[in-house]
Amino acid sequence: MPVVTNGKLIYTAHPEREYEHGVHSKYVEEELNTDTIELNGGILVRLIAISSDPYMRYRMRDKSIPMFAPALTIGEPMDNFAVGQVVRSEDPNFTVGDYAAGFFEFANYSVYPGKSSHAFKFCFKVPKVPGLPLSSYTGTFGLAGKTAYTGWHLWGKEKAKTSKTLFVSGAGGALGLFLLEYVRIVSPHLKIIATAGTAEKLELCKKAGADVVFNYKEVDLEKALAEHGPIDIYWDNTAGPILDAALANINFFGLIIACGAVSEINHDPSAYVKYFGKIFQHCVTVHGFIFRFGPDAVRASEEFNKEVPPLVAAGKITILEDRFQGLKEAGRALESVHSGKNLGKAVVIVGEEEV
Ligand SMILES: NC(=O)c1ccc[n+]([C@@H]2O[C@H](COP(=O)([O-])OP(=O)(O)OC[C@H]3O[C@@H](n4cnc5c(N)ncnc54)[C@H](OP(=O)(O)O)[C@@H]3O)[C@@H](O)[C@H]2O)c1
Repeated sequence: MPVVTNGKLIYTAHPEREYEHGVHSKYVEEELNTDTIELNGGILVRLIAISSDPYMRYRMRDKSIPMFAPALTIGEPMDNFAVGQVVRSEDPNFTVGDYAAGFFEFANYSVYPGKSSHAFKFCFKVPKVPGLPLSSYTGTFGLAGKTAYTGWHLWGKEKAKTSKTLFVSGAGGALGLFLLEYVRIVSPHLKIIATAGTAEKLELCKKAGADVVFNYKEVDLEKALAEHGPIDIYWDNTAGPILDAALANINFFGLIIACGAVSEINHDPSAYVKYFGKIFQHCVTVHGFIFRFGPDAVRASEEFNKEVPPLVAAGKITILEDRFQGLKEAGRALESVHSGKNLGKAVVIVGEEEV
């Protein structure tokens, strides 16, 4: 049947603070004729899985505000890192049935590249690896895994040779858990201190290789870190008060790998940093980075493709997904990474792997 019901998540308004589905996005259904929709030299993709990531909140802003990630367009479908299957193709690089990882719409069917074109748009063929869900291209083999690997390779690996302690915030999330497991393998001598916001996540952190875990909501983190520090390397997924506690305990010539600032994303006025002076006082190096921005990050992401798949196959890196079923649940998936409700990679499962 060429006419299908096409569910979509439409962006409807810019949030001032927290994103709320129903206020800032809505689910709609339209009919789509898969045989006749214009491809304009592109492909028609049937969505299998699409990622929910904290950075999507940065995209919820007026287009006039410049930022590293493209702004969403009010009235248009939201889009993000995803995996799907080609159902029609006018692009010689793709044939019907191919699996593709790319930047697709939150829609059962969408045309790539389609009418919206922005810097994040990409699409390439991916293999179906026996025993692994295709959704892992949005997590372990996607943004979360590749970002953790990139930051560690570019800065952590070298500094780890002369370090004793690593502190990781946001450690119970998709990126944090990958990092813990990976560092445990490549730098086993490090004492890993991890923080997350629930007991369940702290258990996961321990299982992934953390030696010491704290719930940042329940302890005085600055004091807790003082008992286990000083910190030689701080992997920062949160910024805000946790960065402050890390700065209070950073060692001389320490390193901060600035990966994310989830505590600031929603413009929480209490998420400010007090101890900025520690950076010069303790001769600290801070490296910020963004996934695949710049040639070094691109190279590291390619190294990942050689090193990580065998670690996953050997069970040394775990795929843990928090699966939201269907596009009607996509709004809840996007909310979950800010409320801390996701346990593992938050991903929306939209379609069967094979039909
Ligand atoms: N630099 C890059 O290119 C890049 C790429 C991908 C991701 N990132 C960043 O890396 C970080 C982790 O991403 P992820 O994919 O692994 O997300 P995730 O951890 O799976 O989900 C985000 C987690 O952040 C925690 N969180 C939310 N609000 C918080 C707050 N106010 N203070 C402290 N923790 C809070 C929650 O866990 P708790 O229960 O622990 O609160 C939540 O589960 C994010 O900051 C993200 O933006 C950066």
